[in-house]
Amino acid sequence: MTQHIDTDSWHATSWLTRPASQQPHYANPAHLNRVYQQLRKVTGLVSENEIEKLKQEYAEAAKGKRFIVQAGDCAESFSECQLPIIQRKKWHLEWIRSFLMNRLNIPITMVGRIAGQYGKPRSQPYEQGPYGMIPIYRGDMINSNKKCLASRAADPDRLLQAYQYATQTAHHLQSLEQVTTPSLWETSPSTSFDRWQTYHTAHSNPAGLEHLHSPHRVYLSHECLHLGYEQCFTRTHHNSLPYNYSAHTLWLGERTRRVNEAHVEYLRGIQNPIGVKISAQSQPQEVIQLAQTLNPKNTPGRLCLILRMGKDQIAAALPPLIEAVHQAKISICWMTDPMHGNTRTSPSGYKTRDFSNIVHEAQLCRRILAEHDAILAGVHLELSSEKVSECIGGLYEPILQEHLHQHYTSLCDPRLNDLQSFDFFHQFLSSSPHTYDA
Ligand code: PEP
Ligand code: CO
Repeated sequence: MTQHIDTDSWHATSWLTRPASQQPHYANPAHLNRVYQQLRKVTGLVSENEIEKLKQEYAEAAKGKRFIVQAGDCAESFSECQLPIIQRKKWHLEWIRSFLMNRLNIPITMVGRIAGQYGKPRSQPYEQGPYGMIPIYRGDMINSNKKCLASRAADPDRLLQAYQYATQTAHHLQSLEQVTTPSLWETSPSTSFDRWQTYHTAHSNPAGLEHLHSPHRVYLSHECLHLGYEQCFTRTHHNSLPYNYSAHTLWLGERTRRVNEAHVEYLRGIQNPIGVKISAQSQPQEVIQLAQTLNPKNTPGRLCLILRMGKDQIAAALPPLIEAVHQAKISICWMTDPMHGNTRTSPSGYKTRDFSNIVHEAQLCRRILAEHDAILAGVHLELSSEKVSECIGGLYEPILQEHLHQHYTSLCDPRLNDLQSFDFFHQFLSSSPHTYDA
């Protein structure tokens, strides 16, 4: 279902009249404009039929008839746009899908933080470099993470590269969707899941994966951050309504969701399903106003609230929000992001998260929603398909504090590794929301 917008006041450029936070400064605006001109002519990555299909799937998930997993890197890197790495990401997501399908017995929608997750909002504009303060890294589409002054300048050509790498990633994913012969999947290079399953079958409940289902579509998503870039992919095609063709769904971050500002103005006009990150600091009335602005016709599946409150805050912050949503009769697809409210710094200086806190917040979220007559439609996770050591804990091969330095490769936030992500879903599903002892 398409959503109504006040087209008199909205235009793909109307965000330019509002304050836009987290936008990079470019030293050469003429160069930037040349890049925009090129990007306006390129082919999009997705079609409006697929976007509408995803919106329909979000609407089903909001009713408990489907479950959504949105997952991937905190920040993708250009250098990891390689077929073997993308294959591992695809297999990883397919294993999670098969596992959940067997356990929940409902269809699963997989949405990758993939093929365009190249821009990062930052809390501080500068950081300490080897010879003094330097601008902060803002994602590969803006600058380089190399710690030197020249690398940190915002470079417009990186927007073109972001498009090229995103397109290549999407093509790789699509080619893997054609692999429908189970034997080809079983000879995948990664045996992590097999080892993990053998362990769990021997030591606890059967993990519940009989076979890997044939691969399905992985929908594409990234944070809607760089508005000039997003504007280039905003086009009106067959049904004369504007869509963003750079991803099936975009999300609005915790730092850019103020209702009178540019990101909300931009997102209210496109037809894609969208997510909004919600912290424990958000006031219920502010969220209602945001929801009414972004989804004025209350279209089912259009708006997903991605709760990232923190395991210690969610019990106080979530109930008033659910009540306000019920009272305003707003259609919401509720998701939990148990990562971003549980970040801490380890004694050795690594940004990390504890596996147990991540599981705890996700379980609490599901329980609180159920107790207030609402449904958890999905989970939003930061995970890697490699053996990274970024989050502490886990069941099968736990990461200890002293392991953090071994394989910490995230460009930004700490991710669950492949085994920790299987452990997450195993544990998340093994206690019902009503019996979990918070
Ligand atoms: C993210 O999803 O990587 C992110 C920055 O989230 P948030 O806006 O919730 O902090
Ligand atoms: Co993050």
